[in-house]
Amino acid sequence: METAMNFQEQIKQGIPSVLPQAKAYPADANRAPKRKDILSVDEKQLAVRNALRYFPKEWHQELAVEFAKELKDFGRIYMYRFKPSYHMQARSISDYPAKCQQAAAIMLMVENNLDPAVAQHPEELITYGGNGAVFQNWAQYLLAMKYLSEMESDQTLHLYSGHPMGLFPSSEDAPRVVVTNGMMIPNYSQPDDWEKFNALGVTQYGQMTAGSFMYIGPQGIVHGTTITVMNAFRKVLSKGEKPQGKIFLTAGLGGMSGAQPKAGNIANCVTVCAEVNANAATKRHQQGWVDELIDNMDELVARVKAAQANEEVVSIAYIGNIVDVWESFYEQEIFIHLGSDQTSLHNPWSGGYYPVDISYEESNRLIREEPEVFKTKVQETLVRHAEAVNKHTARGTYFFDYGNAFLLEASRAGGDVMAENGIDFKYPSYVQDILGPMCFDYGFGPFRWVCASGHSEDLDKTDAIAASVLKKIMADSPEEIQQQMQDNITWIEDAKQNKLVVGSQARILYADAQGRMEIAKAFNDAIESGEIGPVVLGRDHHDVSGTDSPFRETSNIYDGSRFTADMAIHNVIGDSFRGATWVSIHNGGGVGWGEVVNGGFGMLLDGSDAAERRLKSMLLFDVNNGIARRSWARNEEANFAIKREMARTPKLKVTLANVVEDDILNKLSF
Ligand SMILES: NC(=O)c1ccc[n+]([C@@H]2O[C@H](COP(=O)([O-])OP(=O)(O)OC[C@H]3O[C@@H](n4cnc5c(N)ncnc54)[C@H](O)[C@@H]3O)[C@@H](O)[C@H]2O)c1
Repeated sequence: METAMNFQEQIKQGIPSVLPQAKAYPADANRAPKRKDILSVDEKQLAVRNALRYFPKEWHQELAVEFAKELKDFGRIYMYRFKPSYHMQARSISDYPAKCQQAAAIMLMVENNLDPAVAQHPEELITYGGNGAVFQNWAQYLLAMKYLSEMESDQTLHLYSGHPMGLFPSSEDAPRVVVTNGMMIPNYSQPDDWEKFNALGVTQYGQMTAGSFMYIGPQGIVHGTTITVMNAFRKVLSKGEKPQGKIFLTAGLGGMSGAQPKAGNIANCVTVCAEVNANAATKRHQQGWVDELIDNMDELVARVKAAQANEEVVSIAYIGNIVDVWESFYEQEIFIHLGSDQTSLHNPWSGGYYPVDISYEESNRLIREEPEVFKTKVQETLVRHAEAVNKHTARGTYFFDYGNAFLLEASRAGGDVMAENGIDFKYPSYVQDILGPMCFDYGFGPFRWVCASGHSEDLDKTDAIAASVLKKIMADSPEEIQQQMQDNITWIEDAKQNKLVVGSQARILYADAQGRMEIAKAFNDAIESGEIGPVVLGRDHHDVSGTDSPFRETSNIYDGSRFTADMAIHNVIGDSFRGATWVSIHNGGGVGWGEVVNGGFGMLLDGSDAAERRLKSMLLFDVNNGIARRSWARNEEANFAIKREMARTPKLKVTLANVVEDDILNKLSF
């Protein structure tokens, strides 16, 4: 019987030999939304036929009825009955039944991404973003874990959108797992194609880090937001001026946006964050992610004026609509240094963005009962929102789009946000102006690691190792990257006290190729000497390399190539033969299905010479592939970085761009 087996036996068994009892869903689970009912009757039959492929014939009668009901009730077949009874969490690497450590490391990361403390909808195998899946169903999970437990160090598991196609003979230097998620024939990559082919059970939305087992909880978003806010202040403040008492006004205290006040505190400014949903605001306050809660505009104005005058570092949640804050602060002549927005405008008509002058409850009623009225109210609000922002920017506020489609939807609604050329927006996105030129073009990006022993002491030791490596590198760094180095040294030194760990013992920081390689080498040495246990390396796909996304990661590419996806493909193929333990390539991340191709890797460091050889070869390529492409697009910072890397690495020879004078082009007639 399933329950009589211990954890290791359950993993090794895969799909149980005896049909488990049907299960009721836990009453308190945060369930995924019901998906679109998009399949025809014939296609529904095909979806059930597909699902039954995983099970012996004797079970088909019973399971067919159950899966048809799941399809009806949830729009997908998750096979809840097969969810294992053990608690899903990152265990110590030695707890996994495995014939090679690399396979055990992957199991650990899979489980971390399904841990209810980490995952958004764990029953439906969704890690974040509402749709970021690790597997499509529980049969895929059980089979994949079984294969990993049987895998030897010269075999590779191929996962097709969560489906384990099988273990294939390979070599010790090959990746142990190759993951593809949502890779479609390009003409079949519209949002409804995802709905249809996911419902059929043949593809899935891997988001960026969910389907590559590399999500590490909210720490990643806190770090990215902190880096963005700090660098945005640098753009607007004069040398020597401090962010204390200066205002960062934004909106949203939801999944990712909730990181804004915490990041603002770390960046030392006054954060004012509007949130229409009182429950979301209260939750963030209770979690300690925002310092103060205010639901009255007069009180907010008085409090913010005091915080400015006293040069405070504080974060304030205003329970109400962001448009009211922009308008009132204008009337009250409160100067805003930084302005942005992180409402969910990628989803404007069903609750991502709430209209002004209508209560939260009434808005929700309109969404359900009068969607056309709701849409009009949202559009009117967006026009007002843009108008209020424009008035502040005329006074000197620096406003940037936070990758949430604010400018896109405001322009579609008729808001005054277009630049004079009628093509671009008036305001930059956070990647165009901040992360692109200040971080990605120099190779700085979200390097992360997980201590596979599960011991918090190992994380403390790796924090200390990383800090000392970065300090040593910084001593010889050129002026251009000193600030990034310093920010990340400060971050890592404060990381423990900022209590960022949820799930596995994980850490993130931004480092360039040299930083990533030297930190990884120092970890590998510490593992070899027995100071710490094995470490898994990886990165967010939101990085210098790996992700082709014309309106986000590669939005500061101006040679037309931002609509191509060659870089992401080269990254994942290049990483795979340079020593990655697993590689993944995905269609669709935070900006939507069909809008981005992103790839990444995981790498186990076990203290061996082979691990040292692999980390040096793979990390060098992983970062510099992106810098080379950015440099070829004529980005000056990337050109600087790739020339520096070529001087450091004689075997690297990258094609450099010649820059033509505008005068020559302006005289041409076409
Ligand atoms: N932080 C990042 O680095 C980053 C990067 C890229 C994209 N994004 C984007 O940011 C957006 C937010 O993501 P999320 O996970 O936090 O979404 P979410 O839906 O969990 O949170 C958005 C919040 O905004 C609130 N809101 C909506 N309209 C409002 C209004 N008019 N005034 C005040 N509050 C309002 C909602 O109540 C909700 O709580 C998404 O579009 C996401 O793609 C963030």
